[in-house]
Amino acid sequence: MDNISENVVWHDHSVSRDNRIEAKGHRPCVLWFTGLSGSGKSTVANAVDHLLHKQGAHTYVLDGDNIRHGLNGDLGFTDKDRVENIRRIGEVSKLFVDAGLIVSTAFISPFKADRELVRKLLGEGEFFEVFVDTPIEVCEQRDPKGLYKKARAGEIRNFTGVDSAYELPESPDIHIKTTEHDIEGCAQLVLDALRKAGVIGA
Ligand code: ADX
Repeated sequence: MDNISENVVWHDHSVSRDNRIEAKGHRPCVLWFTGLSGSGKSTVANAVDHLLHKQGAHTYVLDGDNIRHGLNGDLGFTDKDRVENIRRIGEVSKLFVDAGLIVSTAFISPFKADRELVRKLLGEGEFFEVFVDTPIEVCEQRDPKGLYKKARAGEIRNFTGVDSAYELPESPDIHIKTTEHDIEGCAQLVLDALRKAGVIGA
């Protein structure tokens, strides 16, 4: 047998994307949570993950604060580093989707072009931009990590919403206003959208 026919045999036996969807009972996708620091991205992403897991979906959460300690530990908060941060997360998310998972990512991802780049990396119906819409005044009042206070005092530079831009999503796939719903309510809105899009069953 020559090398070419060996390759053909290999492809015949590989597990296809459809095989994975069938095994898992749902479609894979990325739920790309974007919003200011303190907007509630991680909290809502984790609540969504919990609900999906409870109904048997195969899921994973990628979170800014954690990934920045590991994979992206070499990156800071200049515009250039933020672009690279999102590019890498986009590529990692694509691998998770290829593995058949519903992956929730929680990164500020302040630049529209980078979010669109990730959308383009993924297939049709595999990317949902979830805008966690919380006014900066509310984020600043919550200030769970005390970072707004430090940024206002000039102790942190390039802080999103203070001296670094956040480009608002113009037409997010899912729009969540955290001042109008509690965490469970926000998570339910995401699940409703996933049912409507046929990612999970009714
Ligand atoms: S992103 O802009 O590159 O998408 P990412 O979501 O990974 O940001 O990290 C944001 C988190 O890092 C914030 O929630 C906050 O805890 C912390 N952080 C530290 N410095 C900054 C900064 N200058 N701007 C924004 N977030 C910062």
